[in-house]
Amino acid sequence: MALREIRIDGDEILRKISKPVAVVDEKINMLIDDMLETMYNVGGVGLAAVQIGVLRRIFVMDDSENGDSPIILINPEIISVKGEQEGQEACLSVPGYAGEVLRPKVVDVKYLNRDGIEVQSRFEDRQCVIFHHELDHLDGILYTDRASEVYEMQREEE
Ligand code: NI
Repeated sequence: MALREIRIDGDEILRKISKPVAVVDEKINMLIDDMLETMYNVGGVGLAAVQIGVLRRIFVMDDSENGDSPIILINPEIISVKGEQEGQEACLSVPGYAGEVLRPKVVDVKYLNRDGIEVQSRFEDRQCVIFHHELDHLDGILYTDRASEVYEMQREEE
């Protein structure tokens, strides 16, 4: 595993469309390990492959308290969404800022896990927000494109 550099807003790769993964092989799994290590290293709750410069439709997320429950999504697709919620989002690629974004409240999705097996899942509330935020990354969209307002974040800890 290796820590990878996180691309920052202004880097044009963040605006590109990521390509589907054809085969979930060893190389993809090594990429996923790097993504997890990089996300946990900075205390993030989600990270898309494009954020470390790889244009593949993969992201990882983990909003558990102890950071020990990673979800790995390859070629994720929305089946259906329900409801809406507005809440604060931030992004490792837009350091120092946060914004209010309107998102669905519940999403039913399908994706491949790291064994290449198709999985169906439902994400609600915070997990639904993270899912949509990360899925947007795969299509070159940042939360700042959708936010009703974006503001500088107060640093609570360093
Ligand atoms: Ni982000």
